[in-house]
Amino acid sequence: MSTTAILRLGSVRSVDEFKEHLNALGLTIPCDGELLRGTDSPLAQPIVREGIQIGNRFAINPMEGWDGTSDGLPSEHTVRRWQRFGRSGAKLIWGCEAVAVCHEGRANPNQLVAAAHTRAGLARLLEGLVQEHRQAAGSDDGLLIGLQLTHSGRYSCPNQKGRPEPRILYRHPILDRRMNLSAEYPVLTDGEIEGIIEEFHGAAVLANELGFGFVDIKHCHGYLGHEFLSAHTREGKYGGSFENRTRFLREVAQGIRAAAPGLQIGVRLSCFDTVAYRPDPALSSPGKPGPGIAEEFQHLIPYRWGFGVDESDPRKSDLAESVRFLSLLEELGISLVNLTAGSPYYNPHIQRPALYPPSDGYLPFQDPLIEVARQLEAVHELKQRFPKLIIVGTAYSYLQDFMPQVAQAAVRLGWVDSVGFGRMVLSYPEVFSDVLEGRDFQHKLVCRTFSDCTTAPRNGLPSGCYPLDSYYKKSASAELLKVAKARR
Ligand SMILES: Cc1cc2nc3c(=O)[nH]c(=O)nc-3n(C[C@H](O)[C@H](O)[C@H](O)COP(=O)(O)O)c2cc1C
Ligand code: SF4
Repeated sequence: MSTTAILRLGSVRSVDEFKEHLNALGLTIPCDGELLRGTDSPLAQPIVREGIQIGNRFAINPMEGWDGTSDGLPSEHTVRRWQRFGRSGAKLIWGCEAVAVCHEGRANPNQLVAAAHTRAGLARLLEGLVQEHRQAAGSDDGLLIGLQLTHSGRYSCPNQKGRPEPRILYRHPILDRRMNLSAEYPVLTDGEIEGIIEEFHGAAVLANELGFGFVDIKHCHGYLGHEFLSAHTREGKYGGSFENRTRFLREVAQGIRAAAPGLQIGVRLSCFDTVAYRPDPALSSPGKPGPGIAEEFQHLIPYRWGFGVDESDPRKSDLAESVRFLSLLEELGISLVNLTAGSPYYNPHIQRPALYPPSDGYLPFQDPLIEVARQLEAVHELKQRFPKLIIVGTAYSYLQDFMPQVAQAAVRLGWVDSVGFGRMVLSYPEVFSDVLEGRDFQHKLVCRTFSDCTTAPRNGLPSGCYPLDSYYKKSASAELLKVAKARR
């Protein structure tokens, strides 16, 4: 654990002061002193590679909204969010949010579904985004929009808030206990998996017909695709060897290629993970979670329930299998890769570094910049090994006022091809065009990682930036505001 105190980045007044703090923490996050504007900016440079064109280096990472209808159609909240993504200035829209390939695979009862009955709703979302983009940017040249396809697996909760209906691939000694799954709880059969693979194919065909530029076969954050990669202990053709654990990816990709030739495929991958964390009971009190500590894992060494983790100490990462996985993507002709880490359910400090925890999280036990650096460095290492892949990086929102300087340096130095943002776009939708066009950075709109966009859905409300977006402030219940405030 770092002994340097956690610094509130909102109180840091200069890039030099920010760099001094990075030095004190011993972090090698690249950071430029001066921002280049307009076409001189590395962030304004297009990507033209492997038959793909993307107009600049900003990407929006997917963010589920928990605000669709019970049958998986978008609501007005959803339409508004996609429109805001459209006018952000980013030319790569990765997502815009996880869309389930079937009802049973929804992560919440309000998640969007890709199916025949939602065709018109998804078309409306796409059109709204493109129209806003054209209006704001003048044209949609170089705009690439994907649809993130998901099955939530262990984190399925399709029918009722607070009533999870996990679809698991293997028994997990820590997560099963945290989720109260009995020893008899069923694992998905190979036959059920084959059915889910067909649902991915159907959803991809729909996305292609609607005009999405690519589909993401989601492999991150503890959901089904990601769980396959750690299914070391599963028997049969989808578990055990690396070949078996990646069979799902290959079968989904092959089917998409056959049914929707010409549709690009991307993969969002948790390229490393850690064991699950929880609030330290010794430092927690009711309603006030303490700092995170790792769940007991010493009795589980060598650790066989993770992907991208060190078997001898699962708090640490090991990228050896991530390298193998990216090689496989190259072999499959998949060149769009979005790298993230961990899971929002069991180790949010690495997945979305934050100063304030969501209602089911824990306080940071070290400066969240350490986790930001860990993601940037992992992406840097993988980018060096895979120069041809188009790699999007993640976890830049925590950098707050210094994100433009870090984003510019990371792209300029070739650490990453495209810088991907989640939360920052919820609070500050025009952030990318402000940076690219050299307009004043609107410090008041910068995401301060209050986590209300995660806490709200955990409390039955649509996800949105309650503290900084007046649209949500109006609809926030007094109860949510109380829960959220108590955590700050
Ligand atoms: C409210 C919310 C919803 C999210 N939903 C998704 C999702 O549907 N799919 C996904 O791959 N990541 C999802 N994420 C993760 C983000 O894409 C991103 O990886 C994470 O927020 C870290 O990036 P940031 O620091 O820029 O916010 C979500 C994050 C938030 C805050
Ligand atoms: S609620 Fe707003 S400020 Fe808080 S983490 Fe989400 S986007 Fe950032």
